[in-house]
Amino acid sequence: MRILVVGSGGREHALVWKLAQAPGVSDIFCAPGNPGIASLATCLPIGVENVVELADFAESMKIDLTVVGPELPLTLGLVDEFSRRSLLAFGPNRLAAELEGSKVFSKLFMKKYGIPTPDAEVCQTRAEAERALKSFGLPCVFKADGLAGGKGVVVAQEPDEAERALKLFFEDRVFGSAGDRILVERFIAGDEVSFMVLCDGERALPLATAMDYKKIFDGERGPNTGGMGAHSPSVLLDASTSSDVLAFIVQPTLKGMADEGRPFRGVLFVGLILEKGMNPYVLEYNVRFGDPETQAVVLRLDGDLLPFLMGSARGRFDEGAQLAWRREATAALVMTAEGYPGPFERGRPITGIQEAEATEGVFVFHAGTARGADGALVTSGGRVLNVCARGRGLSQALRTARDAAGKIHYEGAHYRRDIGHKALEILMERSGSMLR
Ligand code: GLY
Repeated sequence: MRILVVGSGGREHALVWKLAQAPGVSDIFCAPGNPGIASLATCLPIGVENVVELADFAESMKIDLTVVGPELPLTLGLVDEFSRRSLLAFGPNRLAAELEGSKVFSKLFMKKYGIPTPDAEVCQTRAEAERALKSFGLPCVFKADGLAGGKGVVVAQEPDEAERALKLFFEDRVFGSAGDRILVERFIAGDEVSFMVLCDGERALPLATAMDYKKIFDGERGPNTGGMGAHSPSVLLDASTSSDVLAFIVQPTLKGMADEGRPFRGVLFVGLILEKGMNPYVLEYNVRFGDPETQAVVLRLDGDLLPFLMGSARGRFDEGAQLAWRREATAALVMTAEGYPGPFERGRPITGIQEAEATEGVFVFHAGTARGADGALVTSGGRVLNVCARGRGLSQALRTARDAAGKIHYEGAHYRRDIGHKALEILMERSGSMLR
């Protein structure tokens, strides 16, 4: 069997690593991939947005399944192009990918189908946004409608932050056409959880829960990033809340999308906020695997991922299909380049990956790496490496990952030392209340 994975980050490295272990897989290709992926797959110089070129490659090489990592090719209609050519691709088609591609579409969809989500107003002018801001009060959330590379959401706590957000969206127009419409949304305080399910258009198979940490610095300080680390399980969601999320959020989403003529296949990543630690609200949908959540989740998967991705792409899981999870916890730490999430440095030589991976249970997935002119490994992206570990419990997984990250060196390397702190605090509270 021949597989093509589309993307070039740590998420795609983890997916390639898992798929390479599936029986019957003879060849894996990755477009465009990275040096870590190149040790497991043949990397191709095709960008993720080149949907037609990707389909040409898959057709000529008789690829059995294409697995798409990032959202962009999905919103550009990769799956539609592949199905026109009778090629199997894992992910939603263009219409279903609007759940992520348009925040306005997803908010109106949730309202229509009674899916719990914070109230919001759709605004096209600064005056409309000011009116909405006045009615919700501060803190308040501003969201660009279209894809904005993870940078389209601003949470304003103070009046001057709200003023800056309004200027950003309506005067500077930094998001271009993605910001033609925005959502002004009521702020809900709580903890965020990443809830991912594999879908075949009708049924949903939950992946292990995960939690990611978005701020660049320890103590939840500094600007938001694409994600600085994750662990699985999330700890926040107990079994009963998870089954509520499935019953009251995921199933109505799948049913609603089918009723809208947009049946959802692929991975649905529901970004939840738990108000007062309990009531789940949907902050956003993503139509692809989370990054770095996937790295932590894939390491916990017991057995193969491939049959589930195949079932989803074909529009029918096998009868009784269920994913099974290892009991161990996992952690993924993101190592970043100097300057990230702003403009960052590239081309810094990286050493120590072998030493890090020498520890049992440690896996290093590449994200923003490249080969320099002399063939040496160098930094080439904002998020450079994902240092992941399995452990008997969360503290052990986190400690092992931190120790391993400490063995990797490049100038300006940064990673958070406190990933997992929210979960560990909750576990401490729970064990304290059991002792009381
Ligand atoms: N880690 C958040 C995301 O993948 O969007």
